[in-house]
Amino acid sequence: MRMIIQHDYDAMSKWTAHYIANKIKKFNPTPEKPFILGLPTGSSPIGTYKKLVELNTKGVFSFQNVVTFNMDEYINIPEDHPQSYHYFMHHYLFNHVDIKPENINILNGNAPDLDAECIKYEEKIRKLGGIHLFLGGIGPDGHIAFNEPGSSLTSRTRVKTLTYDTIAANARFFDNDLAKVPTTALTVGVGTVMDAKEVVIIVSGYNKAHALQKGIEEGVNHMYTISMLQLHPKGMIVCDEDATMELQVKTAKYFKDVERHNLSPIEF
Ligand code: GLP
Repeated sequence: MRMIIQHDYDAMSKWTAHYIANKIKKFNPTPEKPFILGLPTGSSPIGTYKKLVELNTKGVFSFQNVVTFNMDEYINIPEDHPQSYHYFMHHYLFNHVDIKPENINILNGNAPDLDAECIKYEEKIRKLGGIHLFLGGIGPDGHIAFNEPGSSLTSRTRVKTLTYDTIAANARFFDNDLAKVPTTALTVGVGTVMDAKEVVIIVSGYNKAHALQKGIEEGVNHMYTISMLQLHPKGMIVCDEDATMELQVKTAKYFKDVERHNLSPIEF
């Protein structure tokens, strides 16, 4: 596993956006050979999306032949609700880049048959040959997508009941009213994320420091689903200094040392 430690949120966002843009550019996607990109929501990726929009607008890279799959979506809130992940993705990314609408895939939390919706999503990813790069974030309890503590580490796309901790963490987006936060969601599984050829997880802020410590320094276990990244052949954490606060000094020093030539964002 790689870990890129950046000074702050902005530096983390810039580094990540430049990394992804470079990946897409180098892949040279075509309609026959699109780049398949997995994407998260939450406050962690907003800065990365802003930078990706800038790079796309400048013509550094194009989303024309990029197919996206989002990690998750709440069940039973309208797509045009400001807190739906459909709305979020269009607001922060899709409305501002040259992506083709038919290349956007987001789970439908209002589908009449939610289990069938999940099976269809997995099949579509498989038919396209799998995800090239899955970008993700983590919750304060170390969950990826909505794979809450105790989720199977081989889980696939499915319906999940959200924990109280996640509902409380997300209440800030729902007028701080816990009763307004959806209690269930559709989410890709830990196995779905781990099937991607590459996984990049962004982690920012002191409130994620405990989860990062558990995920990086302790063993693989289902109570911190992010820890599964340890078994991925091409997994990378991009974080800020605040997120490393619970790591041993030697852990942070080790990663800063081995990555010393890679800490500047890729230039175009
Ligand atoms: C939700 C999302 C996750 C995200 C997490 C953290 O639980 N399902 O994909 O990583 O929130 O969000 P934030 O980046 O806002 O802390």
